[in-house]
Amino acid sequence: MMLTENDVVLCHVDDLKEGDTKGFLENEAGQDLLFVVKFNDEFYGWRNACPHVNNAPMAWRKDAYMDAKKQHVACHAHGALFEPGSGLCIQGPCLGKTLEKVPVYVNSIGMVSILLTDIN
Ligand code: FES
Repeated sequence: MMLTENDVVLCHVDDLKEGDTKGFLENEAGQDLLFVVKFNDEFYGWRNACPHVNNAPMAWRKDAYMDAKKQHVACHAHGALFEPGSGLCIQGPCLGKTLEKVPVYVNSIGMVSILLTDIN
């Protein structure tokens, strides 16, 4: 896959181990716009915006978007848990709501990217 001006390269597949998350595109307030999770050998991108309270940021520290068991994405504000692959909230105050997906692409040499048009 050729990269175009519309591609934003985030990292390489080797930068995340199974169950890892990593945040990207930090704003002036130090909050990531989005994060990527590696789960069951797939890569998923989600906006760092909890559907519970005004799209609040979710990590308790940089790149910490998972629960302790590395099975669910967690919002550390009020403890909501989300499925890493579907973004669905399965426990907590926003039960049944879903994180906003940012489609993630992996090319033939393992670069993980998103499209600029998907985040504007
Ligand atoms: S802001 Fe995420 S659970 Fe409350």
